Amino acid sequence: MIIAIDGPAGAGKGTLGRALAARLGLRHLDTGGLYRATALQVLRAGEDPADPVAAERAARGLDAALLDSPDLRSAEVGNASSVVAAIPAVRQALLDFQRAFAATPPGAVLDGRDVGTVVLPDAPVKLYIVASTDERARRRHEELLARGEASIYERVRAEIEARDARDSGRAVAPMRKADDAVEIDTTDLTPEQVLERALAVIDART
Ligand code: C5P
Repeated sequence: MIIAIDGPAGAGKGTLGRALAARLGLRHLDTGGLYRATALQVLRAGEDPADPVAAERAARGLDAALLDSPDLRSAEVGNASSVVAAIPAVRQALLDFQRAFAATPPGAVLDGRDVGTVVLPDAPVKLYIVASTDERARRRHEELLARGEASIYERVRAEIEARDARDSGRAVAPMRKADDAVEIDTTDLTPEQVLERALAVIDART
């Protein structure tokens, strides 16, 4: 069983991915974490996330310990992650890891931007998770505050819009709903309701 979940920042992919994996006994990979870890490694080396050579080097030599770093969720790393993610060599470097993860029994839930379109185009279940920009910004803002980061709602909203534009406008593997993905709008749903809808889609597809 392989489940591909895509969608923009703050729509609820990660929450759904974790819940589905727990419910179905699958492994879970937050693929955005790979891009965030790559960005963090570049920033810590004092290099520029837009530098293709530095970013590819970081992606190829990714320090797995960074995947658990609390710094991964900072606004700075979030912004830099969509800059490194637009570099083709970075995407290529992270592709094999994602496919190998999905192929390992008993199966997996992967969430990101291009899982259903590029990483696992043959996944039997594909979900595309969306929510209004206001709601996504509100959730991110609350998350940053809960972590003790200074956060201004308007700025978070502007950063989400900029990140959406970069992620859907890039030449390689842009964020896009796969033709065979089922869309769920989480704006007015609780995490439990989103999980129930996703389970219904999975039942129908498997
Ligand atoms: O999901 P998250 O906000 O953690 O992702 C961080 C960034 O990583 C995204 O803005 C996007 O640029 C990039 N990403 C990607 N492809 C994926 C997952 C994330 O390009 N499959």
